[in-house]
Amino acid sequence: MNSVKDSAIIILGASGDLARRKLIPALDSLKQVDGIGKGCIIVGSGRKNFSDDDFRKHVGSSELISPLLHYHCGIEGLRKYLDSLGIFKTVIVFFSLPPKVYADTADALHHEGFGGETRIIIEKPFGYNLESARELNRRLSEHFEEDRIYRIDHYLAKEAVQNLLVFRFANSLFDPLWNSAYVESIQINASEEIGVESRGAYFDSAGVIRDMVQNHLIQMLALLTMEAPVTLDSEDIRNQKANVLKTMEVIGYSRGQYEGYRQESMVNPESNTETFAELELRIRNFRWDGVPIYIRSGKVLGRKGTEIGIRFKRVPRLLFNAAGNLEPNRIIFHIQPTTGIVIDHAVKVPGTDHDIAQSRLDFSLSDAFGPPEKEDAYQRLLMDALAGDRTLYVSAKETEMAWEVLDGVLDGGKPFLYRRGEMPKSPLGIDWIEFSEFKGRN
Ligand code: BG6
Repeated sequence: MNSVKDSAIIILGASGDLARRKLIPALDSLKQVDGIGKGCIIVGSGRKNFSDDDFRKHVGSSELISPLLHYHCGIEGLRKYLDSLGIFKTVIVFFSLPPKVYADTADALHHEGFGGETRIIIEKPFGYNLESARELNRRLSEHFEEDRIYRIDHYLAKEAVQNLLVFRFANSLFDPLWNSAYVESIQINASEEIGVESRGAYFDSAGVIRDMVQNHLIQMLALLTMEAPVTLDSEDIRNQKANVLKTMEVIGYSRGQYEGYRQESMVNPESNTETFAELELRIRNFRWDGVPIYIRSGKVLGRKGTEIGIRFKRVPRLLFNAAGNLEPNRIIFHIQPTTGIVIDHAVKVPGTDHDIAQSRLDFSLSDAFGPPEKEDAYQRLLMDALAGDRTLYVSAKETEMAWEVLDGVLDGGKPFLYRRGEMPKSPLGIDWIEFSEFKGRN
């Protein structure tokens, strides 16, 4: 790993939970592998009036990283404080803040004198709908050029998600089939076992379409369906994602809510927020026109699993498929909790004339490369931001386009109720791949 030097990492909202649970441990791991090198410091800034030592204690920093940690209360005077600590080529400012203060915080940073050397990192939600996302992007761009704004989508940091592009464009086997002539449907599923837990207030104002579909699921779909980028530069990849996003359209959707959701803490007792959504989309371009795309995500569905399935068209009703019941080929990408790829195909049952059975080519990332190193998404994302690599971050254009795709389906009236711990029967009558059958191996 290349070591980054002479950089300052500022965490705004540093007395909050994220800094303690995720950001400081991620920076600690980066320090351990020398990703953060000479002349780097970390400055926490928050409302609490901490000393440096209070801050170190608060985040429970290790001996290794503690000497790098400093604290400044509030944004006022932050620039001067930073200047008193040294000269930094790069300044990264992580907004660990409520999204509604992003734009004002960008104003305040500008006012303090943070300029062209500064990169800001923000987390979703980027706006609440198309209009508010445009407004947020406009306000941020008043002070920060687009190439200084890093929008996190933590799914892009998942190994199995990054592998999608490699699978598609480093193999000659699949790309010829990756189109409407061969693909019968594309299916993306993200099931969660947990409910809203302590995040009732946030979730109730969002719902699963804003919380999961607009970002994580649409991003995976874009990687799966985009054209090949001209190079692997982040701009080329992000532009290709934006191109395919431009052609996406929702043609049907249904929203559900788990029983008991309205009794969750900080949830409106009359809430119509969806905790489950199923959508059918189309991509109106030359490659994908006519291929049904199904997306589904929900909370309290009895299992945690994110999968992408490509179901291919059946072979002609001849030879082994004369009766028309031969299973179609499928490719399943296991994104999590196991990571791997399964390819379903037909084989002859030994000892029979031509009885057909289904078999699986089953690739598991950990069988091939050993158990995954415990690299946290934040570790990867912070390192990329320090190195100026925006491949795993989302552009302004992409977020706005994703909102545009979903603009008509964000607040759709009363959701149907479903039982906790069970996947509801497809409200749109979709013939879903039974993903839970594909356990995958880790
Ligand atoms: C977050 C959502 O972005 O992703 C959460 O806000 C969701 O509601 C989480 O639970 C799922 O992430 P992962 O990595 O556990 O699939």
